[in-house]
Amino acid sequence: MTEKREYRDDYPDKTLYIPGPTEVREDVIEAMSQPMFGHRMDRMTDLYTTIVEDTKEFLGTDNDVIVLTGSGTEFMESSILNLVDDDVLVTTCGSFSERQANVAERLGKDVDTLEYEWGKAVKPEDVRERLEESDADYDAVTCVMNESSTGVRNPIEEIGDVLAEYPDTYFIVDAVSALGGDYVDIDAHGIDVLFTSVQKAFAMPPGLAVCVVSDAAYERELESESASWYGGFQRSLDYYDRKGQTHSTPAIPVMLAYRKQMKHMLEEGHDARDGRHREMAEYTREWAREHFAMFPEEGYESQTVSCIENTRGIDVAETIDAVSEEYDMVFSNGYGSQLGEQTFRIGHMGEHDRESIEALTDAIEDVVGL
Ligand SMILES: Cc1ncc(COP(=O)(O)O)c(C=O)c1O
Repeated sequence: MTEKREYRDDYPDKTLYIPGPTEVREDVIEAMSQPMFGHRMDRMTDLYTTIVEDTKEFLGTDNDVIVLTGSGTEFMESSILNLVDDDVLVTTCGSFSERQANVAERLGKDVDTLEYEWGKAVKPEDVRERLEESDADYDAVTCVMNESSTGVRNPIEEIGDVLAEYPDTYFIVDAVSALGGDYVDIDAHGIDVLFTSVQKAFAMPPGLAVCVVSDAAYERELESESASWYGGFQRSLDYYDRKGQTHSTPAIPVMLAYRKQMKHMLEEGHDARDGRHREMAEYTREWAREHFAMFPEEGYESQTVSCIENTRGIDVAETIDAVSEEYDMVFSNGYGSQLGEQTFRIGHMGEHDRESIEALTDAIEDVVGL
């Protein structure tokens, strides 16, 4: 039984280097602190159409965008409900892609997996082989862009190009922890559904999920006998077309924060943001290779989350505690019991830059005595 632990008012501020939530700008936090207004007022239409259209502009997509109250897992579930009648192929290479398989199984779908050892990336040629050899007519194939548990960046562009040859098979991409810090040309690679959560590389407070939906995916849902109600593409997109609002009451304060942060993101621009994240990732990898080793298969390292192999056998939990205690910085252990002490993870996303990442690696060096 879990016992109540009373929340206090005196927690020290910690700088977040975990793979989300991450640091949020002061003015973005302040944007949430406004008197409430109604979700059917004109003001709400101004707010929602602004964040939807700004997101399309930032992502450089002509596809439709839904911003829904919830976390990324909402679209992990509803994209399966909306697009899959029977068979789905889920590529797995770590905890979050395994969660996608679990979600689809829970929804009663016929789930095949294309499994990779944790740390390895999904390969387009294997996807092609499976599509050619399988007797199943897959309604969809899923792939995680950034496997946050292992720090692997999958080649979703090449996988999308393979899937473009299979027009009846929809491509669903989990871009949580990547989008906003790692560029992807969504429209050029046949990605039908791509979703993310805002608390990762968008650097916003948690509470909203974003989904980019192709026309084909929208049409497919219309033909289905059943689909998600809350996360249905049709319901959200039709409501947007008619009223410029969301189908049910959204987390208005988080949308106010979104509006503010998306303006910052547009000002920086997608390319510059991508470049800043690349610089942080390259620095972190170099540091990791000097003192430890990188966990992911070479050539597939994430641009937003580095998973570092604990080759020195340091006490990861103790190091995290000491860095938190002495420097007020928090980074992550490896994911789950499997990688908990065998790896550790640094989230270099959102508002961070090379200097702030260097401050963390300096702190780790100091605590570990490197
Ligand atoms: C790759 C990936 N997918 C899905 C999720 C789940 O996202 P959320 O917690 O926003 O539902 C996470 C969370 O860390 C993730 O990293």
